[in-house]
Amino acid sequence: MSERIRILGIETSCDETAAAVVENGSRLCSSVVASQIATHGKYGGIVPELASREHLRAIVPVVRKAIEDAGIAYSDVDAIAVTQGPGLVGALMVGLIYAKSLALALDKPLVAVNHLEGHIYAVLLEERLQGRPEPELPALSLVVSGGHTLLAISQSSGQDKRVLHHRLLGRTRDDAAGEAFDKVAKLLALGYPGGPVIDKLARSGNAHAVAFTKAKMKGNPLDFSFSGTKTAVLRYVESNDMSEEIAARRAYLQQHPGAKAPDLLPLCSQKTLDLVASFQAAVVNELVQHVIEAVNSESVNSVFVSGGVAANSLLRERFGNVRGLPPVFFPRLGLSTDNAAMIAAAAFPKFRAGEFAGWELPADASLALE
Ligand code: KG4
Ligand code: ZN
Repeated sequence: MSERIRILGIETSCDETAAAVVENGSRLCSSVVASQIATHGKYGGIVPELASREHLRAIVPVVRKAIEDAGIAYSDVDAIAVTQGPGLVGALMVGLIYAKSLALALDKPLVAVNHLEGHIYAVLLEERLQGRPEPELPALSLVVSGGHTLLAISQSSGQDKRVLHHRLLGRTRDDAAGEAFDKVAKLLALGYPGGPVIDKLARSGNAHAVAFTKAKMKGNPLDFSFSGTKTAVLRYVESNDMSEEIAARRAYLQQHPGAKAPDLLPLCSQKTLDLVASFQAAVVNELVQHVIEAVNSESVNSVFVSGGVAANSLLRERFGNVRGLPPVFFPRLGLSTDNAAMIAAAAFPKFRAGEFAGWELPADASLALE
């Protein structure tokens, strides 16, 4: 085995076509992400059929650019890593078929990666890129994205200490946290995806203006639920006669599909800004509260926060201010949202442990985190 192991990661689970080359799970040689926001934006959410078609269009040039940016040839790659699931099945299949074809043509091994584990490895990759020591395990992993919200204990085992295993502690019973941001943004005509725009608009609002009462859930106290908060936003909109303002923004967005928070700010009343700030605070509260409860009941040495919602500025700020938690780690913004560097980084310990996938590897839309 050569000393420098270069893994080409390929990620197509949702609405980003991504490829990256990572050396030894710790050096970022290239990372290319082609977003489909322009395609899905006008529908206010992801259209699976369009996502598959966009991946088909983008996969070849995106992988080529990742190879070129890394300054290597295809044959210099030691393995191809690909997201097997969870995600949209048609979208996953594009990445999987391309990765298999490339591995076959180049005669290189194929490594299957769970997208959620990829998000967790983004935290480790960040620390390695910064030249900092490895965070101590076991870690409490909070994965918060557009498709998932879960808490798990991440521990290493076996001969190769860097292969992680995960024990699920809690998950969302309804919407994922990012999905709640996206649905509220759609309801209020704030564009797609909702997280980044709400994050920015919320800075101009009062997070205490609207109270969201939390319904008591039976069963696992570490499970999440966001649909009640989302419905409370809908009720507030209905009872506060905000429809005219929403219609005006919808018309503006049709004319300016790529509109960002500064463009939308003048079209938002203080009531709307207070509402989004209060909604964001309610979601962030639930996430932080669950982490505090999990830390109190489990023995962990670190907290890993990853996935698209980990980009949220209030969430980062809140975790910086909670006392009594073990060190909390976040990847940089570009490694928090979907990317392929995290897939290549997650594949490295599997490569070293000889955990290769066969050609029959299926896409698995609901692949569990183990
Ligand atoms: O991890 P990701 O890129 O894709 C999935 O695996 O789902 O996460 C995308 C989600 C979207 O729902 C988006 O609205 C949310 O992450 N998001 C944010 C922020 N940036 C992205 N949510 C809150 N605040 C943000 N700054
Ligand atoms: Zn993701």
